[in-house]
Amino acid sequence: MKLLSISLLLLTLLSNVYSFTDYLLKDCKKDAFCHRNRRYAEEQAKLLHNGIYGLDKSSIAVSENGVFEANLIKTIERSDIDDIKVTLPFTMSFISDDQCKGLNALRFTVNELRKNCQTDRVDCNRFNETWNWAVLDKYHNENYKSSKDSLSWEISSIRSKHGWFSSNDDDEEIIIENKQRDIKVELTINNFHLKVYYKNVLQTIINERSLFNLEHHRSKKENFQNVLPFESTYNMFADNFEYSKFDTIPLGPESVSLDFTLVNYDNVYGIPEHADSLRLKDTQSTNTISKRKFSKKHNPEENSDPYRLFNVDVFEYNVDSKQPMYGSIPLMIAAKPGSSMGLLWLNPSDTWIDVNYSSDNTKTHWMSENGIIDVTMFFGKHPKDVTNQYIQLTGSPVLPQLSAIGYHQCRWNYNNELDVLTVESKMDKGHFPFDFIWLDLDYTDKKQYFTWNPDAFPNPTRLLNKLSKLGRQLAILIDPHLMSKSEVSKRIIKSGTQVKSNVGRTFLGQCWPGQSIWIDTISKLGQIEWSNIFHDFVAKYVPVIDVKGNNLHFWNDMNEPSVFSGPETTAPKDILHDENLEERSIHNLYGLSVHEATYDAVKEDYKNLTRPFVLTRAFFAGSQRSAATWTGDNVANWEYLRISVPMILTNNIVGLPFIGADIAGFSGNPDPELIVRWYQAGLWYPFFRAHAHIDTKRREPYLFEDPIKSIVRHSIQLRYKLLPTFYTAFHKASVNGYPIMNPMFYEKSAFAAMYDIDDQFYLSDSGIIVKPIVSRKTDVTAMIFAPGIYYDLETLNATIISGEEVQTLRVEAPLEKVPAFIEGGHIITKKERYRRSSHLMVRDPYTLIIAPDVNDEAHGSLYVDDGKSFEYKEGQYLETNFKLSNNVISNKPSHLPGSNSKYETVGNTLIETLIISTSELNHITVNEQVKVTEGLEEWNVDVQHDGNRIIITNPLVHIDQEWCITF
Ligand code: NOJ
Repeated sequence: MKLLSISLLLLTLLSNVYSFTDYLLKDCKKDAFCHRNRRYAEEQAKLLHNGIYGLDKSSIAVSENGVFEANLIKTIERSDIDDIKVTLPFTMSFISDDQCKGLNALRFTVNELRKNCQTDRVDCNRFNETWNWAVLDKYHNENYKSSKDSLSWEISSIRSKHGWFSSNDDDEEIIIENKQRDIKVELTINNFHLKVYYKNVLQTIINERSLFNLEHHRSKKENFQNVLPFESTYNMFADNFEYSKFDTIPLGPESVSLDFTLVNYDNVYGIPEHADSLRLKDTQSTNTISKRKFSKKHNPEENSDPYRLFNVDVFEYNVDSKQPMYGSIPLMIAAKPGSSMGLLWLNPSDTWIDVNYSSDNTKTHWMSENGIIDVTMFFGKHPKDVTNQYIQLTGSPVLPQLSAIGYHQCRWNYNNELDVLTVESKMDKGHFPFDFIWLDLDYTDKKQYFTWNPDAFPNPTRLLNKLSKLGRQLAILIDPHLMSKSEVSKRIIKSGTQVKSNVGRTFLGQCWPGQSIWIDTISKLGQIEWSNIFHDFVAKYVPVIDVKGNNLHFWNDMNEPSVFSGPETTAPKDILHDENLEERSIHNLYGLSVHEATYDAVKEDYKNLTRPFVLTRAFFAGSQRSAATWTGDNVANWEYLRISVPMILTNNIVGLPFIGADIAGFSGNPDPELIVRWYQAGLWYPFFRAHAHIDTKRREPYLFEDPIKSIVRHSIQLRYKLLPTFYTAFHKASVNGYPIMNPMFYEKSAFAAMYDIDDQFYLSDSGIIVKPIVSRKTDVTAMIFAPGIYYDLETLNATIISGEEVQTLRVEAPLEKVPAFIEGGHIITKKERYRRSSHLMVRDPYTLIIAPDVNDEAHGSLYVDDGKSFEYKEGQYLETNFKLSNNVISNKPSHLPGSNSKYETVGNTLIETLIISTSELNHITVNEQVKVTEGLEEWNVDVQHDGNRIIITNPLVHIDQEWCITF
């Protein structure tokens, strides 16, 4: 029976050429714990049932490392037997950095003490390791000691207070405070509620609606006496969803749920991955799902479902949808002018989040299938503070090799060595710069990773060497599913590091190679085995390990994991990882475990010399430390181009900025107009890659007809010209989490009108503002601007926005033009010469574009390092700041590399041209010559005037020297 239905599912999948359809996914009603918790919420809204959760005062203690600890007690009143009481250990702590970098967080956890859990099949404890996966080592439970003195607490009566739940006026509350950090919590004892204040302003009320629900452990037999009278018991011990009905649910209902009212916030963002707007939608009101082809099977109720976080393989996913996708980052950011907070719900099990905008507050309801409640909240003035604190806790986004931020040419598949080299040379002849060429699935021998198809790629080392000489990088696909009969699988099975079935045998499922096993990178031993496999592979094909030569990179695809024969296209929830840990408990972490193990392995293989590049499809909080990602299997139509922008913006604010979308749509054949518009948008994606499905027509840029070809060429070349600015943006992201594709409300947070804009953005803090065209036959668009001067990126013509308010202006956008401006007040750095790849630009000089604001001032910064090694971590980099003020342009390096660098750290330092753009509001008058002073020397340089541009050619100044140019 089981086999039959698996084969039927498989047949359906294959007959659709593995096309994604809604019916494979659960909606909230069918995902039992979501169903139950939404019902719980409905019942609580009708008639508040209070007093279920209270704190045991006598259990309060503050541990040696400064953690407030107490037991929460869940009480189920029974008339027939003694009341049932369940102990739920509760902790609360303050997390701050010791270097005044502004990390200012409050964490609390709720676990369950399970006494009578009898099963030897699965680990009985709630999974409590997510924190250690997601956050940096120094904050791991065993390492982090918040100072005991920073936390104070006292009990007081709240009888005299009036407020949010009047029935409990005689309750008591505990005030827990970190005075130095301005965070205060009021925790009500008998009725567990929390109010959290930052700088004396109420930020959030936790459990205001009494939606806190922890389904404690009980056997099926005891269930009837363990449920609350108003609780739903829907599918507590069985699952009747068509594709997951074999789920054994060994521990019964285990979900955790809690509500957070974000007080005086009416904009919330984050919690990717969804193909949806940047500002989260209200999940109770219906929104329209744009469908590509649809579909009797589509369930209209999905419209009012919560957002779901559950890593799944969603080929040709729906757009404008809250359905789950490949990755999950459970960080929500609330923001308004002057204030922001972040809410990190560290739980990797299947999770749903309801969002309700209600007058000035936002009410959210978080529900996870199992595990513990582990919540960290960040507070600040600005949403950037939240992103910044989040990456301080979970790690900096990776600073990639310079080449990885160039253009990537990918296709499923480049068929053989000749094909690869032909694409390389045609790109070159067509003057399309690029850095990476990619090999998808079929470079392997019968889809066995860690092998090469011997006919197509008889000598991979030769190919790598050839590409290396041409300055190109090669990325190849290695997925975590492995053909069950392959050599590598035998090795994994021998070491016992494969994922196991629910009865402890090797888990077998279907994926690209047919019957497959999965490496268990959740386990330490699995990570070591994976690393050894990489070690042998790299040693075999990359014989010389040196900074220049290491041009092989890796792509971990299908690591949700995708299991064609599994429920919801992924792994059954009851299969087992090391130590009998259920997949259910760690599901959204698996992808991270795979790509992190890959990154660590390659870093070791490359002897810590070169920065590895790893692309992952699945992600979780912390993925930014080692990987880039992309938005998965989109379609070559306008809807997917449009939605790529808010999707990428969302990832940028939750600390995983190295993301792109397949240009110009993975499946289907884009028409010429779509191709152009997609390249014009894609050139701003942090990860800039063209990719196409195996069934599509070839579409390498040199194949296009003019004018498409020349516009695409121009777009790719523009990305390369701006590489110094992009690399500086990546560096900033890696230091402080600054978004690379940066939403309007992050840059212009003082203007309420910016909080719902997600079709235009800034490039980091460079001042470049862009609105890609994402609809057909559009040659004019509307852009919103804060007051200031804006210079067209290409012509430098000025547009003035006067007054105090934002304005929306009509902007011309003929096919050859992507609307992009430099905001007055900024100086951007370019390299203007055409080169075949990023590494050939190292010796090229710089051009500065100076865009003065209304006060005739401008600033800009530049970061340069060797673009490849880790030496920047030892200070081998240059950082400098340009300034225009009082008719003087100046440069002042703030950091210079030492003289003992092994590599060429900064390349050419010469600035060959400075261009000052002006507007009618500026008072910059430059004579025929300017005076240049660098060190003790002084000389004059001629100036050209060209319309509103002042051009200074060959001033002979350098980025690594202090100099002034005086008008
Ligand atoms: C699915 C990925 O999303 C896609 O990019 C890739 O081409 C195919 N797997 C084949 O490997």
